[in-house]
Amino acid sequence: MVPTPHAALVPLLARHAGHAHELLPLLHALQDRDGYVDPAHVPAIADALNLSRAEVHGVITFYHHFRSAPPPRTVVQICRAEACRSRGGEALVAHAEACTGARIDGEPCHGIGVESVYCLGQCALSPAVTINGDLHARVSPARFDALLALVPERKEGRHV
Ligand code: FES
Repeated sequence: MVPTPHAALVPLLARHAGHAHELLPLLHALQDRDGYVDPAHVPAIADALNLSRAEVHGVITFYHHFRSAPPPRTVVQICRAEACRSRGGEALVAHAEACTGARIDGEPCHGIGVESVYCLGQCALSPAVTINGDLHARVSPARFDALLALVPERKEGRHV
């Protein structure tokens, strides 16, 4: 039986359907639009690209970038690769955990999730972080606090 795609998925499927090599662009487009790749979409994606559901699921779970659930309101990613580790990255992780209440790669706290990434291409300017996708380099704990205070919902006092 051919799965019926969710209406919100139809325009993206129309743009990418037919070719297996369109899987990554489709997954990126979905995540850019929705913030995650809803597992309920996997059967329709597999059908549209002539792939098995296991192949689609395998790609989604292989790449750390793809989410299968909605992201927290604020996503902090801290680089934990070599250059950043050697320049205070782990101390920054501890600081971020202490000031947000969230555990690295664990459950978000008050709408803030803290996640590990492995190299953001800013090795010469380490330690590097992203906050809601915005890249920041040479981030000290004090600078981290200042950057987090600039996140709109925190700035406006809306802590969820
Ligand atoms: S090691 Fe952190 S940005 Fe490259």
